[in-house]
Amino acid sequence: MKIKEKESIGYLKYELKTFEKLPVKIWNEPLEASRHVAKSIALAIHQKQQDGEQIVLGLATGSTPIKVYEELVWLHKEEGLSFQNVVTFNLDEYYPMSKEARQSYWRFMHEYFFDHIDILPENIHIPDGTVPMEAVTAYCERYEKLIDLAGGIDIQILGIGRTGHIGFNEPGAWETSPTRMVRLDHLTRHDAAKDFQSEDDVPYRAITMGVGSIFKARTVYLLAFGQHKAHIIQQAIEGEITHSVPASFCKNTLIQGSYWTKPQQKN
Ligand code: F6R
Repeated sequence: MKIKEKESIGYLKYELKTFEKLPVKIWNEPLEASRHVAKSIALAIHQKQQDGEQIVLGLATGSTPIKVYEELVWLHKEEGLSFQNVVTFNLDEYYPMSKEARQSYWRFMHEYFFDHIDILPENIHIPDGTVPMEAVTAYCERYEKLIDLAGGIDIQILGIGRTGHIGFNEPGAWETSPTRMVRLDHLTRHDAAKDFQSEDDVPYRAITMGVGSIFKARTVYLLAFGQHKAHIIQQAIEGEITHSVPASFCKNTLIQGSYWTKPQQKN
């Protein structure tokens, strides 16, 4: 039994731990984890194609999923993986934010992913940071409805912020929260400052899918890479379920896998 366990660990290339409250896979390198997630997504897309069905992906921005998108683009270019049956819903967008702005998530998704695959433009959904303030509530309800009409999210990709946010659901977000406008936490704005001229230029608000919208997904991959995420990922996967760490709500759902790379050794 022991030998089998060892063999399977070697084969799977990740360590299995038992003290977390949800399944966690720990990899040596972000690339290995990203490849694994990209391959799982590709397999699901392919299976749905064979059944003549669409697949709905929930997508994140930020540094964490970039390699997953690069892998998927590679699979499209080198192995002919088609995205014509794929419908996507992005988690969030700063508000206000024009599509053309350098920091927009619309731009991010097109630069890293959509411009390099054969997805149908009408199947792409990204919260719109230009909706007039008075129309935001109705817009968010519509976004939520569109996810339902598409059949719900099959696979959701998540990163995690240092506040424990998923999407832009900051500490205090409630478990059943829907797509809505939110205020960004101070730490989140501080971390985002690297993408803007200064912290003062980071928007104070965003439109985000809610915790409730996210965890309706049938499969969720929560990825976290690097030393700076160690503390919050520990709270999210080992700690109690709490509003102070919105990612901890993932323990209430049947999460398929979360991926964590070993912190780099400090020299
Ligand atoms: C982005 C998003 C955020 C990020 C999180 C981590 O669409 O929803 O929750 O996943 O802020 O960002 P990175 O990956 O840049 O560390």
